[in-house]
Amino acid sequence: MLVSLVMLEPNFQPFPILETERLVLNQLVEEDAEVYFRMRTNPRIRQYMDKDPDENVAASLKKIQEIEGTRLENKAINWVLRLKESNEFIGDLGMWRFDIAHHRAEIGYSMFPAFHGKGYMTEALNRMLDFAFQDIKLHSLEANTHPDNESSMALLKRVGFRQEAYFTENYFYAGKFLDSRIFSLLEKWRS
Ligand SMILES: CC(C)(COP(=O)(O)OP(=O)(O)OC[C@H]1O[C@@H](n2cnc3c(N)ncnc32)[C@H](O)[C@@H]1OP(=O)(O)O)[C@@H](O)C(=O)NCCC(=O)NCCS
Repeated sequence: MLVSLVMLEPNFQPFPILETERLVLNQLVEEDAEVYFRMRTNPRIRQYMDKDPDENVAASLKKIQEIEGTRLENKAINWVLRLKESNEFIGDLGMWRFDIAHHRAEIGYSMFPAFHGKGYMTEALNRMLDFAFQDIKLHSLEANTHPDNESSMALLKRVGFRQEAYFTENYFYAGKFLDSRIFSLLEKWRS
């Protein structure tokens, strides 16, 4: 079946605040630098990230500014998960590496361990997926995980992602070539 595609033009202006039953998904701001630093250096969160941690709060602040820069260019979008009842920063999620011609983007997420096992990320991710497919008009999404990242893979499968590839030693970090699992989601696969 042939489809005619309208040019994908992601637009993140003004910042799209999203809501779920228990969460507000809003903007990562410079005042979040300290908590963002704590998240990006948390050993449990970093366990399967395979990236160097930020060295200090200033480095995390710089990252926040870069994220805001890419949002202003409509190249990426990142939300903070805040509990509605307390406004507490519990994690983040976002989309980047937009492949405009093919209506595809990559997703990522992280959350403080104290909030794991309560369904918050499933709730946030489902809301972001509505936005991705219905507002931005993406056709597919991609997620790239360390092969042993069980909780991330469980999250992806819970919302309908399917593993489509296993790449052997495609990622170099800390003196080793590591494997990756590549997951995809089409809107019709959502669960
Ligand atoms: C990936 C990550 C966000 C998943 O966190 P999580 O707590 O497992 O995910 P959710 O918030 O959706 O919670 C789901 C769990 O809560 C349980 N749960 C409890 N109440 C729930 C509710 N009301 N609704 C849905 N699930 C609920 C689910 O059963 C599930 O538990 P299970 O995994 O034991 O079956 C977390 O492990 C993380 O931050 N990891 C570090 C960062 C990382 O690796 N990022 C990915 C890089 S690729």
